[in-house]
Amino acid sequence: MGLSPTLKLGLFAALVSYLAGPVSHIVRISGVFLTPNPTVLGEGQGPIYIADTVHCEDVHHYRPANLLFTACEDHKSTRFSWFPPLGHMAQPSTRGSLHVVDPKVCSSAPAGEPEGVHKARSQIELFHHVLGSSTAQHVRSVYHPLVETPNDVYAESPVSFYVTNDHFYRDGVMRVVEDLWPSAKWSSIIHVQVDNLSKEGNVDASVALTGLWNNNGLGHGRTDKEMIISSAVGGELYVSAPQSNRTIEIQETIPFETVTDNPSYYADPYRTDDDDASGFVVAGISQAIYLPTNAKNQDATDASQVWYTRFIPDTGVWERKLLFEDDGLRIRTASAAVLVPIEPKGGKKLAWLFVTGFMSEHMIAVQVEL
Ligand SMILES: *[C@@H]1O[C@H](CO)[C@@H](O)[C@H](O)[C@H]1NC(C)=O
Ligand SMILES: *[C@@H]1O[C@H](CO)[C@@H](O)[C@H](O)[C@H]1NC(C)=O
Repeated sequence: MGLSPTLKLGLFAALVSYLAGPVSHIVRISGVFLTPNPTVLGEGQGPIYIADTVHCEDVHHYRPANLLFTACEDHKSTRFSWFPPLGHMAQPSTRGSLHVVDPKVCSSAPAGEPEGVHKARSQIELFHHVLGSSTAQHVRSVYHPLVETPNDVYAESPVSFYVTNDHFYRDGVMRVVEDLWPSAKWSSIIHVQVDNLSKEGNVDASVALTGLWNNNGLGHGRTDKEMIISSAVGGELYVSAPQSNRTIEIQETIPFETVTDNPSYYADPYRTDDDDASGFVVAGISQAIYLPTNAKNQDATDASQVWYTRFIPDTGVWERKLLFEDDGLRIRTASAAVLVPIEPKGGKKLAWLFVTGFMSEHMIAVQVEL
């Protein structure tokens, strides 16, 4: 028995409205209609290309020592055959090292080479680094079966930390579904507790949060008790709080127009009661639609955007601002960014924005106004 035309039309309308939200989100995040508009920089605003920073995904600014820490692949070719976050698992790579960048002189120094990784047996490697030294000593490996697709870490201490599993599926069709379907809220955050730092110390883990779509990057927020979480393909930042029972409570959601990879928090050291530039920074690719084909091409360019958001108490809203945009020639596949303050002059709040990209030949620094 056939359906009546009215019923067919009704079903069609229902299907369209069911898919309209997800489809418009995918159209936005994919950047299919976006024309990259590279930010024009004036004299003295960079970009400064930081030497010896090949394919660094994440970056952190350790304020007490004013140093940047990043983990890099170091070789232009290896990432294209081994990079589990993109599903590249053809040839396990044993490369990569930690780098320390001095933002005052914009130079990078290696701080030791992490050990190799095992295919599909993810583990966390713990290192000890003494500020100012050029080595990082391997302390121990931390393995737990709940940590399956680790992407980022939020450490409370060397023995207690949170890890994101950015996907539920490592590969195959379901992985594609997971990347495209907003209801595929199958990623998780695991809390890991280690008894002690000796190799015999027992490892315990529990699920701290589930129900987010592609939770990816983690960062420290405004206080010791605040965690920021990004949904990369979801284009959202979550302000949250780890609880004493090792679960995570989401307190606020801040939406962005593009992929939001690893988040960071900037505390404005020059803030006054009525002028506080403290805020969150997220970086991500702006034309995700080209990533599947570009991801295996050493010489492709991938456009990116870096966004900044701060809370405006008067209006109660998170004001968003595009800090930097590129077509992929200066920075490719931006995946993290941090702000390093510049002493204010003439009432302007300026900062150096350091941007890394997981398939970029360099980390760059550009001057921005907040
Ligand atoms: C570390 O913890 C393990 C149990 O998880 C214990 O057997 C070992 O003695 C501890 N080592 C130290 C140095 O405390
Ligand atoms: C953990 O604590 C929070 C409150 O801090 C509570 O809402 C939640 O239900 C607790 N979860 C578990 C699994 O005990």
